[in-house]
Amino acid sequence: MNKKSALLKIKLPFYLDLFVERSNAIFALKAPRFIPPLLVLAAALTLWLRATQPQPAPNPSAAPSPFGASAIVRHAVTIRPGPATPVVLTNALNRDGAPVPVSCSTCHSTRAPNVERHSAAELTEFHQGLAYKHGDLSCLSCHNASNYDTLRNADSTSIPYPNVMELCGQCHGPQFRDYRAGAHGGMNGHWDLTKGPRERNNCIDCHDPHAPAYARVKPVFAPVDRGARQQEQRAAKHEQAHE
Ligand code: HEC
Ligand code: HEC
Ligand code: HEC
Ligand code: HEC
Repeated sequence: MNKKSALLKIKLPFYLDLFVERSNAIFALKAPRFIPPLLVLAAALTLWLRATQPQPAPNPSAAPSPFGASAIVRHAVTIRPGPATPVVLTNALNRDGAPVPVSCSTCHSTRAPNVERHSAAELTEFHQGLAYKHGDLSCLSCHNASNYDTLRNADSTSIPYPNVMELCGQCHGPQFRDYRAGAHGGMNGHWDLTKGPRERNNCIDCHDPHAPAYARVKPVFAPVDRGARQQEQRAAKHEQAHE
């Protein structure tokens, strides 16, 4: 037994007596002398149980919180899907009086695809009046020559229309990267995901795939700062008054 523990052995009963005496004095309790040590023991046991209790596994969907691992839910961020597969409406009406749709492949499975087409100007038989200005792309850079009801990947696999962003992303890497980082394309819903979900726009909610460019914004003079101007005028008056 070393010196320190020997000292403790002598002193501990003394401290306990002191503790009993004090707590009896404070609470004016006539409790048996073993009650206060029991309370200390119970407190120690509670603390030990809490410390050894298995912690819940960190929830990946829970937001980091200043209060430690918590049950705060992060709502989802969804990207609005692209449009459904387009169809062409015919002049024929169905029983409800709505035009009968035909799928793109109805005609195109009977026609040889024209991979040379780069412009809408020479469309004379069909699709006249299509506004088209997208670099020097041929129509079949995006439309799938082997199935006109789908879009086309650069490796000539097909992309369903609702996944159109995949198509844009493979040629516009920087914008796609910015989009994913939240710096292009905007959002609707909640900035703070613990308050509610967020919905992102699809590329073609904003850009027409056939004529995607936005007109350049014209540079204009900076707006006049009226507050600053008033302050200047007041300062000038002040100067005059002092001359
Ligand atoms: C009624 C028949 C018909 C339907 C339906 C139709 N097309 Fe066409 N499409 C044509 C014809 C005809 C041309 C060639 C026009 C020309 O040369 O003046 C053409 C040309 C095209 C081209 C240019 C490339 C090529 O092969 O000539 C694309 C792309 C295209 N169509 C896409 C579509 C899509 C997408 C749909 C569905 C929304 C669709 N088409 C539905 C008849 C059709
Ligand atoms: C950059 C990719 C891209 C190119 C290039 C492209 N398209 Fe499209 N096209 C699309 C997408 C995406 C849609 C679906 C748009 C929608 O449903 O809102 C579409 C829809 C269409 C449709 C059906 C809806 C409509 O707007 O009438 C036709 C027809 C069509 N394209 C024809 C053409 C023709 C003809 C060319 C070439 C002159 C062409 N496209 C070039 C991506 C492209
Ligand atoms: C096969 C490659 C390809 C695909 C697929 C494609 N683009 Fe493009 N895009 C181009 C090229 C090439 C240009 C012309 C760039 C230039 O003129 O400097 C262009 C131009 C643009 C521009 C205008 C840029 C400017 O500075 O004027 C926008 C916006 C755009 N594309 C958006 C889209 C969207 C949205 C989609 C998906 C529907 C898409 N692109 C699909 C190749 C592609
Ligand atoms: C909320 C609408 C919106 C969405 C969604 C959006 N864009 Fe844009 N994008 C714009 C605007 C506005 C501009 C023009 C910015 C400018 O002229 O400074 C632009 C510019 C561009 C340009 C031309 C860049 C340049 O510097 O000239 C390309 C390419 C482009 N976007 C591609 C995409 C692609 C790909 C997606 C989807 C991943 C997308 N955009 C989603 C609004 C949008």
